Amino acid sequence: MSRTFRLSNGDEIPALGLGTWKSEPGEVGAALREAIGAGYRHIDCAAIYMNEREVGQAIAGAIAEGDVRREDLWITSKLWNCNHLAADVRPGLEQTLADLGLDYLDLYLIHWPVAFKPGVTFPRQPEEYLSPDEAPIAQTWSEMEKAVDDGLCRNIGLSNFSEAKCRAVVDGARIAPTVNQVELHPILAQPDLLASCADMGIHLTAHSPLGSGDRPDVMKRSDEPQPMEHRVVHAIADRNQASPAQVLIAWAIQRGTSVIPKSVNPERIRQNMAASEITLSDIDMAEINALDRAERIMLADFFCPPGSPYTVEWMWA
Ligand code: A2P
Repeated sequence: MSRTFRLSNGDEIPALGLGTWKSEPGEVGAALREAIGAGYRHIDCAAIYMNEREVGQAIAGAIAEGDVRREDLWITSKLWNCNHLAADVRPGLEQTLADLGLDYLDLYLIHWPVAFKPGVTFPRQPEEYLSPDEAPIAQTWSEMEKAVDDGLCRNIGLSNFSEAKCRAVVDGARIAPTVNQVELHPILAQPDLLASCADMGIHLTAHSPLGSGDRPDVMKRSDEPQPMEHRVVHAIADRNQASPAQVLIAWAIQRGTSVIPKSVNPERIRQNMAASEITLSDIDMAEINALDRAERIMLADFFCPPGSPYTVEWMWA
């Protein structure tokens, strides 16, 4: 049994999961089967990754062939931004369940604190956004709670939510969020968010733990953090006979966050799983903790064009 973290409701989330953002249809299914064979029991999905059907087929195949049982898997998915209005939450979840071929999720997250008009996959015009007043997150949350009541998901949570935005949900919640999934790596370690979410009973999952270097070029900046390239990470990797990616994964788990590195490469999928067995020394941890520059890869500026109700400052405030 691989390592887990206990959530505020007693459920246990596996520390290491397979990320599936940017895993193309045609490759994600094979990656998933490889991962399950290598011992992964946590799969991180989302409707917007446009690959949930193939993920679902791979899960079904793994179960049918006896590689794993459903109850031993932890499946996370996420509500896309065009499904925030009360009437649209349940259809979004039901589509994901149908695509994944599941009758429940272990965890369902609100993907971003940003809302689009129904049916808009990605806005091309500012009018295609809904402001926080037009799509209050409390109403979205209330529908998420009903999905728990109805057994469609066991945990509900947030993704890309700042401390203040988490607090607002917690204060109005009947069923508390158990997880917030955010960008976390040594250059954006977010120690304050980690501590304040712990106070609120919210576990953090680290997305983009390796720097998300395979994002489309339009989403990249020349000065963005590249944790896997950092010389200190390389030095610690050499000291531990590990790869830089393994150091980043081991650091994430050792500081108490679950972590979801994406890979579609069989050797790297296995290598990343093996990282959960690595124990870094206190000195290694301190040297990595000292790399924090509070610099984001994902500013979310793509949701903030002129005329959008959102700004980068609002997003992370
Ligand atoms: P690939 O899928 O070809 O393995 P993140 O999880 O931060 O989004 O980063 C994903 C990127 O990191 C992908 O380009 C992925 O490539 C690459 N990657 C995943 N695991 C490793 C590893 N162990 N060593 C080097 N690169 C890796």
